[in-house]
Amino acid sequence: MRIIKAKDYNDMSRKAANIIAAQVIMKPDSVLGLATGSTPIGTYKHLISLYQAGDLDFSEIRTVNLDEYKGLPKGNDQSYDYFMKENLFKHINIKEENSYIPDGMAEDDEEECRRYDQLIDSLKGVDLQLLGIGLNGHIGFNEPNDVFSKGTNLIKLTESTIEANSRFFESYDDIPKYAFTMGIKSIMQARKILLCVSGKSKAEILKESIEGPITPQVPASI
Ligand code: F6R
Repeated sequence: MRIIKAKDYNDMSRKAANIIAAQVIMKPDSVLGLATGSTPIGTYKHLISLYQAGDLDFSEIRTVNLDEYKGLPKGNDQSYDYFMKENLFKHINIKEENSYIPDGMAEDDEEECRRYDQLIDSLKGVDLQLLGIGLNGHIGFNEPNDVFSKGTNLIKLTESTIEANSRFFESYDDIPKYAFTMGIKSIMQARKILLCVSGKSKAEILKESIEGPITPQVPASI
């Protein structure tokens, strides 16, 4: 594990984008694991700039996203599908059919989890997985638990995560309470993982994740 310090959010975002850019340049048909939330927005902006400058080509890149809220259709402005289109995909030359995200409207939860795992397998795994960290140490939406999850699963979000997400919704009732997430095992099978963390509010959980025991109670500790 390498820890790369950055002087502020923009510096972190530029450094993260450079690492992803290196992956895209060295392996143009890479499978990138992508995250949503406030952390990667700056990284995506820098990637878009590199693309616009002519330095990156995403035409052969495949992406798999970590998670999606259950109950939100594609195109809903709070869905992660929408987030990815707005913050990255519509600004670069990725092919629509090459980016994947769990289907928040799937009728059969178990079947959707199986489908997403098979999809990741069929892509031969993730080359570089981008992650953020939740205030409770979650990665993807794998909340603190007694065991590390394996494949894609449907998670009941904890109150602290619902609270953290409330800034994006008009009322408590509108905030999804469940989400599909890639499992910890799938995340850990990525050939490289880039975990980005920024801001004072994350300092304590970052310290716990790096210096504390490896425990599913702090998913990022793994
Ligand atoms: C998002 C995801 C989450 C976020 C985490 C941090 O796809 O998987 O684990 O990375 O909740 O969110 P922000 O970046 O908004 O603090």
